Amino acid sequence: MADHDIYILNGPNLNMLGVREPGIYGSDTLADIEAMCRDRASDLGLDVVFRQSNAEADLVSWIQEARENADGIILNAAAYTHTSVAIRDALSLTDLPVVEVHLSNTHKREGFRHHSYVSAVANGVIMGFGAQGYLLAIDAIARLIDQDAL
Ligand code: DQA
Repeated sequence: MADHDIYILNGPNLNMLGVREPGIYGSDTLADIEAMCRDRASDLGLDVVFRQSNAEADLVSWIQEARENADGIILNAAAYTHTSVAIRDALSLTDLPVVEVHLSNTHKREGFRHHSYVSAVANGVIMGFGAQGYLLAIDAIARLIDQDAL
């Protein structure tokens, strides 16, 4: 039985992983990443809600839903990272631990990817480690949830 629930939310175009610029994002599909996340999370006693949407509104609604139902949020907001005040505001509303994840190191890329609206309201950021970053994020959020429970 899992003790805690986490939401792992994924933004636009991450449904195309596997075929999308594999030199940047790797060859794992989002389904592969979901399976890896479920394995790691269950080892740590975490239940996972894993979702992807191309729509900003869905991500905002799911963050609001997580506020009621979950103990932590892992978010790869993809391109909305660099544009969305709405996602940032939704995260500000939650008291939950938040870990921001990116497959690529956005600081090595185009200038418009260097600013994140999410980072200022996240506990931490993991980027540049490909799919493994999601597993690092799960380890990090498990610790944050444990600290919250103290
Ligand atoms: C991304 C980085 C973003 O800049 C980009 O728009 C994405 C994916 C990443 O995981 O590396 O869609 O969030």
